[in-house]
Amino acid sequence: MRLAVNVDHFATLRQARLSDEPDPVLVALLAEQAGAEGIVIHLRGDRRHIQERDLRLLRQVVKTKLNLEMAATEEMKKIALQIKPDVVSLVPERREELTTEGGLNVVAGRKHLASFIRTLQKAGIKVSIFVDPDLKQVKTCGELGADLIEINTGKYAELKPGPQQEKALQQVKKAAAFGKKLGLEVHAGHGLDYRNVQAIVAIPEISELSIGFSIVARAAVVGVVQAVREMNALLLL
Ligand code: PXP
Repeated sequence: MRLAVNVDHFATLRQARLSDEPDPVLVALLAEQAGAEGIVIHLRGDRRHIQERDLRLLRQVVKTKLNLEMAATEEMKKIALQIKPDVVSLVPERREELTTEGGLNVVAGRKHLASFIRTLQKAGIKVSIFVDPDLKQVKTCGELGADLIEINTGKYAELKPGPQQEKALQQVKKAAAFGKKLGLEVHAGHGLDYRNVQAIVAIPEISELSIGFSIVARAAVVGVVQAVREMNALLLL
């Protein structure tokens, strides 16, 4: 199980004072040193945290894998084709949201997404789709020719341990097994932290987790290297 670290919220801290630190580029390098096997950033339409400057520099310095989360808009397509991250993760985006609120509705957006995905792939970029653990959505990701899916663990993560959370976990498991059966590489993420990650780690079809907020929050207390090492240790169990 690989750990991909999302460094968006180091940029949130920087933007809070419109300063030049902390620098998410430096943090990404430290995260790689500490064992992260991928770096994730979300360039949002409103540029509330990550800036194009970060994306350009990260493209130059990230040695593992750079994953750009973005909405499927013309503006973002242009940027992705210019910078060429290793992976583009397509996510829904709403200006008012605090964070991504759910998976992309690929069933509804099918027509637009088909050509969008193909254009990125032709440029040598792998395409991931952030999707809810819903078999119809997962099936459509396969039909659209995505390289991989990232299953949204948000619902599982926001519930307390108990039958409801168990049900949400089963949905993630079923979606992961189905995605793998369709030949997709299966990743997962959203809301995962040092307490709830292990049930997800135990799902054999999932090969990578994308984790941001909990690592950033812990890093504020123990430092980036220690926070990434601690999470990586949980993924190895
Ligand atoms: N995956 C996707 C698609 C996301 O949008 C986010 C949040 O930016 C994450 C994973 C990471 O979520 P968290 O910050 O809750 O770990």
